[in-house]
Amino acid sequence: MTHISIIGTGAMAQAISGIVTKGGNTVELLGQSDAARSITGDIVVLAVPYPAVDQVIAERPGQFDGKIVVDITNPLNFETFDSLVVPAEGSAAQVIAEKLPNSTVLKAFNTTFAGTLASGAVGPLPTTVLIAGDDSDAKATLSGIVSAGGVKAVDAGALKRAREMEALGFLQLTLAASERISWTGGFGVAA
Ligand SMILES: NC(=O)c1ccc[n+]([C@@H]2O[C@H](COP(=O)([O-])OP(=O)(O)OC[C@H]3O[C@@H](n4cnc5c(N)ncnc54)[C@H](OP(=O)(O)O)[C@@H]3O)[C@@H](O)[C@H]2O)c1
Repeated sequence: MTHISIIGTGAMAQAISGIVTKGGNTVELLGQSDAARSITGDIVVLAVPYPAVDQVIAERPGQFDGKIVVDITNPLNFETFDSLVVPAEGSAAQVIAEKLPNSTVLKAFNTTFAGTLASGAVGPLPTTVLIAGDDSDAKATLSGIVSAGGVKAVDAGALKRAREMEALGFLQLTLAASERISWTGGFGVAA
């Protein structure tokens, strides 16, 4: 059994929490008012908007050390809704990994809408969580938790693949925001 801390209590936090508990693992959700509470999980999911990540890290010095940290953000420019705010050759996940050198950072969940994580399906396909990272054991651990919760998981490669995952998440968001697809749809993965 793995204990997971989720920072954030919104749509994604709730959906990921549902998967974690369905698989027999335990979870704590830490909202903004819980900044003084220490992280107790071995895995920490950053389920907050990308601009809030710096504050979350600053509020919890040393608390991410030795832990698997899962970045789920889509770092959109919310003013233009037309670009990402991270370096073109990089990703939010790589920026976060540089800020947390004593943690194992994974990118996951950013290409699945909260609704499809909760339902377990994207149209006719099972929901698939892509997981990128440089540590195979960490990816296997997260993959096991996701699979136990009834959702498929696929290893997307090294952390540098987060760039492509964020591009995919960005495109999916713009499609839903412009009502070309629904928030319960999105990209599926057929194995
Ligand atoms: N929604 C999706 O389908 C989806 C899909 C893929 C990826 N994502 C990504 O997942 C992340 C969360 O999205 P969401 O849809 O779950 O958003 P949400 O429903 O708006 O929830 C965001 C959560 O972050 C918390 N928060 C904001 N600023 C914070 C801070 N400085 N410190 C601590 N907590 C803070 C909010 O707390 P309060 O409620 O107190 O403001 C809230 O609990 C985002 O990075 C988003 O890009 C979302």
